Amino acid sequence: MISPCPVRGKSLANKEEAPGKPPRFTKSGRAGTEFGMVEFKRVSYVFGSSWALKDVSFTLEKGGFLFLTGHSGAGKTTLLRLLYAGLPLHRGRATVAGFELHKLRRRHVPELRRRVSVVFQDFKILPQRTVFENVALALEVRGVTRQHMERRVRAIVRALGLESKSYTRCAHLSGGEQQRVAIARSMVVNPKLILADEPTGNLDADLTTDLMNIFKQFHSYGATVIMATHNRTILNMVPDAHILHLEQGQVAETTLPVEQDEPHTEGLL
Ligand SMILES: Nc1ncnc2c1ncn2[C@@H]1O[C@H](COP(=O)(O)OP(=O)(O)OP(=O)(O)O)[C@@H](O)[C@H]1O
Ligand SMILES: [Mg+2]
Repeated sequence: MISPCPVRGKSLANKEEAPGKPPRFTKSGRAGTEFGMVEFKRVSYVFGSSWALKDVSFTLEKGGFLFLTGHSGAGKTTLLRLLYAGLPLHRGRATVAGFELHKLRRRHVPELRRRVSVVFQDFKILPQRTVFENVALALEVRGVTRQHMERRVRAIVRALGLESKSYTRCAHLSGGEQQRVAIARSMVVNPKLILADEPTGNLDADLTTDLMNIFKQFHSYGATVIMATHNRTILNMVPDAHILHLEQGQVAETTLPVEQDEPHTEGLL
């Protein structure tokens, strides 16, 4: 059992937004973008002449858990790449963790990525570096002080059950252990939003359950999670999760509340 991982008396994920501006409300009383962690409005992306995503709209609240499902080629990875500004929007509007992607300037991308963590299947850990070094790297590039960094890395490595391997080179770890190192590296930065692309691919049933428990734990501390998966059994492991099912780049089905386009009433009231 992986125990919760407090860092300086706080959980790893952000339970609450840092105190700051109160949520904005529009005239109609709907919460502004601070409430929705992700808001997509008719977002499209085209590779060459074929639409990888077409008119995708959805809103995921802060602290939500969303599974992206759909056949191979449906657009799951493309959607995740848009979410961390790995690809630009070709059409539509999107807000992610308070950033408007359709207006995002290149210089603001690193700021967005400080709030968003990505766990890909082809995790790129450095095989000749130790577990500790691999995880620490995520904080080093952010200029965190050595003392703070050590504390954070130790806490997350312990939480993911890798403490006894802290000083082992990653080349000498099993596949599942390497995957946990990649997750530790993504999570050590306290992300508000965790994006995971088939993170349980190639894992056996036990490791899949362990891994899902890790994601659930971060979710229970307040992180918002979006996970693309083909694996139907993991959908049942997070009963309160939403599902967004893509078919040929379009939303075919979703358990998320579907918002109707608001009528243009400005000037009429
Ligand atoms: N770099 C690329 N160049 C051209 N087309 C691409 C590129 N990447 C993806 N596509 C196309 O975009 C569509 C969506 O691909 P995407 O990778 O998002 O699907 P996916 O749902 O993640 O599939 P899988 O389950 O196989 O990972 C597919 O038709 C794919 O062929
Ligand atoms: Mg994919």
